[in-house]
Amino acid sequence: MTVLGFAFKLFLLMDLFKEAMPRQKHAPTLLHFQKALDLTGNGLLLQDKEGQPLYINQALSTIFGSSQEEIIAEGLKRLFPEESLKKFKKNILPETLRFGIKKDEIEGINSQGEHFPLSISTMCVEENDDKNVGFVTLCRDMSEEIEFRRRRLHSDKLAAVGEMLAEVAHELNNPLTSVVGFSELLLRKRVSPDIKRLLRRISSEAIRTSKIVRNLLSVVRSHQPEKMEVGINGVIQNVLELKTRQLHIDNIRLVRRLSEDKTLPMVLGDYQQLLEVFLNVINNAHQAISSDRGKGTLTIETSSKKDSVVIRISDTGPGIPESVIGKLFQPFFTTKSDGSGLGLNISKKIIQEHGGDITVENGRQRGCTFTISLPIAQESVSIIEAPSEPLALSPQSFDIMVLDDEEVILDLHYHLLTQLGHKPHLFRSVQEALPALKGQTFDLILSDVKMPRMNGRKFYTHLKKHHPEMTQKIIFVTGDTLNKTSHLFFKKHHLNVLYKPFILKQLEEIIHRTLENDINLNDNSSENESESTTYE
Ligand SMILES: Nc1ncnc2c1ncn2[C@@H]1O[C@H](COP(=O)(O)OP(=O)(O)OP(=O)(O)O)[C@@H](O)[C@H]1O
Ligand SMILES: [Mg+2]
Repeated sequence: MTVLGFAFKLFLLMDLFKEAMPRQKHAPTLLHFQKALDLTGNGLLLQDKEGQPLYINQALSTIFGSSQEEIIAEGLKRLFPEESLKKFKKNILPETLRFGIKKDEIEGINSQGEHFPLSISTMCVEENDDKNVGFVTLCRDMSEEIEFRRRRLHSDKLAAVGEMLAEVAHELNNPLTSVVGFSELLLRKRVSPDIKRLLRRISSEAIRTSKIVRNLLSVVRSHQPEKMEVGINGVIQNVLELKTRQLHIDNIRLVRRLSEDKTLPMVLGDYQQLLEVFLNVINNAHQAISSDRGKGTLTIETSSKKDSVVIRISDTGPGIPESVIGKLFQPFFTTKSDGSGLGLNISKKIIQEHGGDITVENGRQRGCTFTISLPIAQESVSIIEAPSEPLALSPQSFDIMVLDDEEVILDLHYHLLTQLGHKPHLFRSVQEALPALKGQTFDLILSDVKMPRMNGRKFYTHLKKHHPEMTQKIIFVTGDTLNKTSHLFFKKHHLNVLYKPFILKQLEEIIHRTLENDINLNDNSSENESESTTYE
């Protein structure tokens, strides 16, 4: 039964019980009913036939912030602002009389004079001869629900934008791979030092862009947390790569006081989740400074204590009023018109889940400092750096099948593999490649994952059935670093993966590794600049 039905029945029953009371030994009194009505969560207002309040329950008094006596004394104008009062008298009560019940949404007014949304249901109270003797109105404060709906809409919109962003970021990877690859090929030609300098510029800018794309992907894609040894300086540098330009444009000076990599211990954590935390806190600092004086300083400091790594992020913004400092990590607490109020709440959950803590304190004069501490990883696994010099060229020339639906990527593979002394055989689809596999022997396959009709995963399943010897000799090349399905697939089958965009050195290394079957267990660290990974 709805609350409305319950209250209505209760109200009618009061009359019956009143009659029954003298005959019953332990009959409920009016006080019992009053208490029962007070216990219901919805506001209840009993009115006479002119609409004047006769009785209100405790919930109604809480909703409107006035005592029961005050409301009864002041009448309906205490509950509704002028417009709503007019609507209530001229529209809602007459329609209740006509139809017996009327539901509507209307504005209420509290004791502070603030307007708020109310959902009301008004019913007629009739005597036995159907004569109307009054009204019962049930009121529900809709502020929270409307706020919740607004936030749902906001987060739905964010999710949709995130999806779109992920698609765009993914699509950018292919052209970036070409820019990185072709500029590298040109760098290996005999060109003047001036041209070399310009080519290096192109190459390093493309690599920087690709890192931004990778960071964007990691922020917008939700994923299963996966803990590994993470260097906090690296995570912060990645966040700053996303932010540096915008901070500069907004006149914010960035001060990095990062402890030396060698001395800063690793933490055991999920790289992307930690990235999200730092991005949230840095974004807040950025917004705080911008909304205040339009310029300021953001300082990021890393250090280590006995058993933890400590990150301090300080800004010279307005600081946090003492009255709200305790609410900062609560869900939906925001002072921004376009904020979701979830940034810090999510960040706190992530940090606590990592066994750490996040706190905030106001600066002595201005701004505030967020301090994040994370426990140091127990066992330190050494990170293998990508070789700085190209590996020695394989003395042999291998026949390599290359599968990609994008012409420009095929062209790039052709040039890169030729440069490494191999013989590339190019195919635009799995369908085109399958007959070739029957008639010819390949030493290695380099395959894209996302291809029309038959994708890389289906291709692998086909290989397993018809050419099992090739399943050890396949390298998947993908731009979608965070695709969960692919990630699980690579992991399940222990596959070698090369992430776009890559540099020649990485291609060389993964070919060498796959052909030698020299799988390096430590190579899948996200701290390693190399984008090639063996899923173990
Ligand atoms: N560096 C800061 N300086 C001043 N106030 C801050 C700072 N960081 C956070 N706050 C306050 O804490 C509130 C909650 O922050 P939180 O990141 O959880 O949500 P938000 O920034 O409002 O929204 P969203 O992160 O979804 O954009 C902010 O609205 C702001 O009032
Ligand atoms: Mg925020």
